[in-house]
Amino acid sequence: MKANEKKDTILKMLKENSDRYISGEELSEMFNVSRTAIWKNINDLRKMGYEIDSVTNRGYKLMSSPGILNAGETKTYIDDNALIGKELIVFETIDSTNNYLKANAEKYPTGTVVSAREQTGGKGRLGRVWQSKKDDTISFSVLLRPEISPMEVSAITPLCGLAVAKALNEYFDFGAKIKWPNDVIIGNKKLVGILTEMNCEFDKVDFIVVGIGINILNKDFPEEISKKATSCALESDKEIDKNKLLALILKHIENILLKGNYSFNEENLKEYKDYCATLGRDIIFTRKGEKVSGKATDIDNNGELVVTLEDGTTETVFSGEVTV
Ligand code: BTN
Repeated sequence: MKANEKKDTILKMLKENSDRYISGEELSEMFNVSRTAIWKNINDLRKMGYEIDSVTNRGYKLMSSPGILNAGETKTYIDDNALIGKELIVFETIDSTNNYLKANAEKYPTGTVVSAREQTGGKGRLGRVWQSKKDDTISFSVLLRPEISPMEVSAITPLCGLAVAKALNEYFDFGAKIKWPNDVIIGNKKLVGILTEMNCEFDKVDFIVVGIGINILNKDFPEEISKKATSCALESDKEIDKNKLLALILKHIENILLKGNYSFNEENLKEYKDYCATLGRDIIFTRKGEKVSGKATDIDNNGELVVTLEDGTTETVFSGEVTV
């Protein structure tokens, strides 16, 4: 077990038993390390902001958490049989969780989740920057190795958008919607962005990395996006437990992706349409560099947007930006 994993597992143990003291002896036997090593890890956790009481002859008890993302804490909320998040890493800081997983994909099984309290080079779609200041967002990437062809990959991003929107509404009850294809929005403001990257051979997907960034505690956005972005804290007064929320989001992603075998089906397409704020709206999309206007009238079985043009003909929009 690596040093960080040990700390995470000790924290998970303390969290799961936060109604009692666990003796140093019990912990050292459990992890097969000396009591001094346990004591060192406890002190490291205290430095991270965990309040851990220690009483001679009784042991250690977790009194409070600092509210930061931590793999050990998140894991206490993840089902033992879960695939997504079974392997979970939380970095304190990293350039981009997508970049990390792409560079290290061969080391990890499908379903691995890599998150970070801060990204110094967070990437958005279309070459944009994704801001993830320390502890403001929940930013994470999921590694997937589905047995599908590269042609079938396009459903994964909107389905993840649906899963995140459902999880956020379950937690906050604030009516988040989806702007086609996969931004999660409240009103006209963006709350969540998703960047999916794929490594494939001619007819076979090697791996997919779905990168999800959720604005959680952000209060001030850079000038250029301040009118277009929002965060959970700006939309709800509810106290936010990032670890619980991340686990809930992973559960919804697993439910939707695995149940639908990474594709749209009758059930999830209906849900997606119910969530899609773009449907029924007048929109502008780009066709070969030219701006075209029409009304978004449907989503087809592949998650593509069906647009009815002013002359009554319909056109299918595969990807890209639509302006409402
Ligand atoms: C967008 O432009 O809407 C997509 C934003 C995607 C951001 C996430 S945060 C986790 C992952 N790592 C990255 O560098 N980007 C994605």
